[in-house]
Formats: sequence, C-alpha cells, structure tokens
Amino acid sequence: MACPPGSLHLISPVTGRQAKPAAYISKESGMSETALLDLAPWRALKEQRTRWGNRTLEALFREQPGRAREFSAEACGIYLDYSKNWLTPKIFGLLMDLARACGLEAQRDAMLAGDHINRTEDRAAFHVALRAPPGTVMCVDGENVVPQVREVLQHMADFAEKVHSGSWRGATGKRIRQVVNIGIGGSYLGPEMAYGALRRWRRPDLRVHFLANVDGAAFRDISSQLDPAETLFVVASKTFTTLETMTNARLARQWIAGALGETAIPRHFVAVSTNAEAVRSFGMDPAHMFGFWDWVGGRYSMDSAIGLSTMLATGNGAFQEMLRGFHAMDHHFCETPLEQNLPVLLGMVAIWNNNFWDAESQAILPYAHDLARLPAYLQQLQMESNGKSVDMNGQPLPVRSAPIIWGEPGTDGQHSFYQLLHQGTRLVPCDFIGFCQPLSDLGDQHDLLMANMVAQAEALAFGNSDEALRKQGVPEWQIPHRFSPGNRPSNVLLADALTPYTLGALLGLYEHSVFTQGAIWNIDSFDQWGVELGKVLSRRILQDMRGEATHPHDGSTLSLLRRYQEKRHSGSAGE
Ligand code: F6P
Repeated sequence: MACPPGSLHLISPVTGRQAKPAAYISKESGMSETALLDLAPWRALKEQRTRWGNRTLEALFREQPGRAREFSAEACGIYLDYSKNWLTPKIFGLLMDLARACGLEAQRDAMLAGDHINRTEDRAAFHVALRAPPGTVMCVDGENVVPQVREVLQHMADFAEKVHSGSWRGATGKRIRQVVNIGIGGSYLGPEMAYGALRRWRRPDLRVHFLANVDGAAFRDISSQLDPAETLFVVASKTFTTLETMTNARLARQWIAGALGETAIPRHFVAVSTNAEAVRSFGMDPAHMFGFWDWVGGRYSMDSAIGLSTMLATGNGAFQEMLRGFHAMDHHFCETPLEQNLPVLLGMVAIWNNNFWDAESQAILPYAHDLARLPAYLQQLQMESNGKSVDMNGQPLPVRSAPIIWGEPGTDGQHSFYQLLHQGTRLVPCDFIGFCQPLSDLGDQHDLLMANMVAQAEALAFGNSDEALRKQGVPEWQIPHRFSPGNRPSNVLLADALTPYTLGALLGLYEHSVFTQGAIWNIDSFDQWGVELGKVLSRRILQDMRGEATHPHDGSTLSLLRRYQEKRHSGSAGE
C-alpha cells in the first residue's frame, strides 16, 4: 500500500507527531567539527566535571536522601536505577539539555518517520517497523512497509508450524529435529542470544545450533552431533555474499548431498536474505526464502526473518511476545519525556561517563545464565553502530565515540575480572541486569544470585573503609591491599522475569540507547564501513596463499605468509 503523497512518511507512526526538520544532521548545514563542544550544555557539563573535586557517591547519597527515587525510572516492566552514577540534579538537567541541543528528539522522529538517516548508505534505519502491530502505517520511500513485514512473519509462522507438526520433513521422511542457523554478525548474534534467553520457551523436540565461524572446527563440531536426515539448515545472510556464511553453506550443502543425494537439498535448506537473486544463484529455491529489506541493519535484524531460527525454537507465540516487548519500548522511547525515558537515560549516563569521565569501556553483567550471550550481542550493537571517528559530515569527531563493550554473566565474572572492577586503576562503569522472579526455582539459588548482584553494585559504589578494616582486626600492613575505594559508577536494570516480552523490551532499550549516543555525536550509527577493508584484504591474501596472485605487502605480512605456507602442509596435527 502506498502512503498518501508527501505526508505520512513525515509523521511519526507511533507519536503521530510531525518530524522536525533535522538540520543538524544535514550535510549542507551539519554541525561543524567544534559545534558539539561549543554547545552551552556541553560546556556547562565540562565545567561541572572540572569542579567536581573529590565528591564521592557516598557523599551524594548522604546529601540527597531521596536519590534512589529521583534517579530511577520504569517502563515496559524494566526498572532502571541509575542513582549510583556521578550525577547531581544540576548535571542531570544539563545532560537532558544536551540531548535536546543535539536534536535527539528530531533525530528520533526522523528514524521513526522512515527518513534515510543512514546517510552514507542512503537508507532508512527502520527496524522499528519490524515490530509494529498489524494495521500500523509506517512508510519508507512513500510505501507502507507494515503489510510486507506482517506477510513475512506469517510466512515464517506457517513454516515453523509445518516443521513442528511434521508436515515439513526431511527428504527421507524423517521429522526435523535439528536446525542449524548458518550466519555471522547480526545474522547470528541476535538469534543465538535469543535462543539462550528464551530457553524456557523452547520446544523440547527441536534443537538449534549456530554455525558462524568459517573455522572448519566449528562445522565439524556441530555436524558430528547431527543426523543429516533430520537436519534443516537456515542460511541467514542479509547480503547473501558474506564469505564465512557462503563457505559454511556450501560445506553444509555438500554434507547433505553426500549423505542424502542432491535432490534432498530443497527439504534441508531454507534461506533468509534481502537478496533473492543471490539466493537463486546459490542454487536455492527462492520459494523457500524468507525476505527482509535493506532498511533493516544487520545488527538490528533479529526480529526480522533473521529470527526464523528463534521462531522455530520457540514457536510463533513467544516470538510475537518478544516483538510486543520491542514495540512497547519503541513506543516508550517515542512518547516519554526525556527525563523519564529509559533509553535516553541509559544513553546520556553513558555519555557522561565516557565523554566527561573518560571511561574507556562498559561492562554488561547479566545476572541470568540465560543471558550469557547478551554481552556479545551488545558488543556488535554498540561497537559496530557507534565505533566511528567521523561525524555525519565526514569531520573528525572532537570526542570519543563508542566505549568498548564487554562482559560475562554474574556470578562467573565475579571470580574472574571483578577484582579489577573493584580495585584496579581503570574506570569501568557497569550495567547489572537482574530479574526478581527465577524461571528455575531451585531452593534459594535465585536469592543467592540476586544477593550477589545487589551486593556487587553496593560494593562498587561504597567500597569499605580503613576504619572498618581496622575494626575487623585487619593488620595495618594489609589495609591498603584490602581497601576497596568504592565510588565506581553502575546502573542496575531490574525486571520481573526474563520473559519473551521483557527480552524484547530490554533489547529495544539498548538499541535506542545506542541511537541516543550516536545522536549526541552526530554520527551515522547504521553503517559499518570499518569492517570492509579487512574483508578485501583477506580475499587478496587468499589469492596469494593459493598462488593465484602476488600482491605487495609489508615485511611483517610477508613473513607471516611465508611462515604459514612453509608450515601449512608440513605437519599432521589432528589429522
Ligand atoms: O561484517 C559486518 C557485517 O556486515 C555485519 O554488519 C552483519 O551483521 C554481518 O556482516 C553479516 O552480514 P550478512 O547478514 O550480510 O551475511
């Protein structure tokens, strides 16, 4: 369905508000190199930081008894406590002023209006349309995309139902019991993370595996667990040209053809892609293809057809619930004043810690075993989106962009790197993520888990003191070693339970917080040109290795190549 000419695509489908002209991001009148630093709130924040002195989080809590209430907010079932950050009411106000001065609201509305906000690729970044309820009108280039989105979701649901009911079987008539998602980056990290997160919603009769790395060991490991007759491969690639994915897909094809014959291929392979032509030329039937669109960025695609493996694992119901959670957070991001807007709060606190306190990294610490892959997922989301050095106008950024994202689930991390968090010389702001209700209630384990999470945030913020250690009888010489200074910032995100809805809301929260940070830096958060050079060079080096070409290289690269080639066929390790 076409959108009414020249109107609807400018109207935020969720707010109904008219998107303001985004002059600050236009190439013509874009922000100059120094404009961000010249903004009044930026300068005032700088001054606040300079005058901060040695105020501690402990002092802030003493001065402001209602701090936890004042610096917390709740939406879509997620409670965010950001009170353990170096904020005062004044600084908080300035951060909100900064967001406004950078045109965050207008940039957000431009995204929701389907504008081509991914300027370097001249595309919309319209993942919000993937979770729009039926009947919503959301337009890109004058066309309402919601009907197409719902059509693909229905196609996925019908297919999943066929696999689950056994009406789609392997070529020998066996039911499909194993699904292998072949994909990498955004075509892997989201589905794998969701497969873990939605463990309680998985069907018991079907397992999903994820083949991403081009390392043959990965294929061997997975295929050794599988019976080809009951295995379905989902080849997931936006472009359908990614070297790792195509290589693994070819290997899988050979494996199936070798075991079951060439004619078995259509029953054991389906494709998820935006590139029907490439799917066809790969030898796969486009009838068994689930499409999406160039306005869906790879790292924003897990709720598109890229989520087919998730839907196969959990069924359509849980998938739709997850989309509902995403949409609820979209709505919240769009409708809520900045001061209570969760993604804005998370994003602006990150800006404060990163740009004014020089925090180089940020730890993501889920206290939920099922969210074990959330840090890896958020790594791509933040670092591929905002790991940029120039602004929209190609001008060097005057400040640091994305922090390094890393993390592990608690309590595992506590017995590994938390030592550095508590007593190391680096500042690492932490996001603790926990749930009030366990999904597997085994004795008091959940209380133990959550007690640890709350305690870690408390210990980071408030540490201990020399006097307390002395009172405990700690010998004087040991006090410096046992002293935890505290005064280290963190956020706590607390939800009721890790349901599909909450997962969607949590991911939407992080997506929009990454967007918020990109809007402050005025960067293109939706391209990823930095990964291209390595891809090009690896192709050239492969030609060198195969003796098909002799490209010029530096001394180090040449000697590495020489050594590799000398040793490559000289041993028999593992064979
Ligand atoms: O290498 C970067 C990247 O383009 C990611 O942005 C993307 O998620 C990934 O590769 C996979 O791409 P595709 O889905 O096209 O195979």
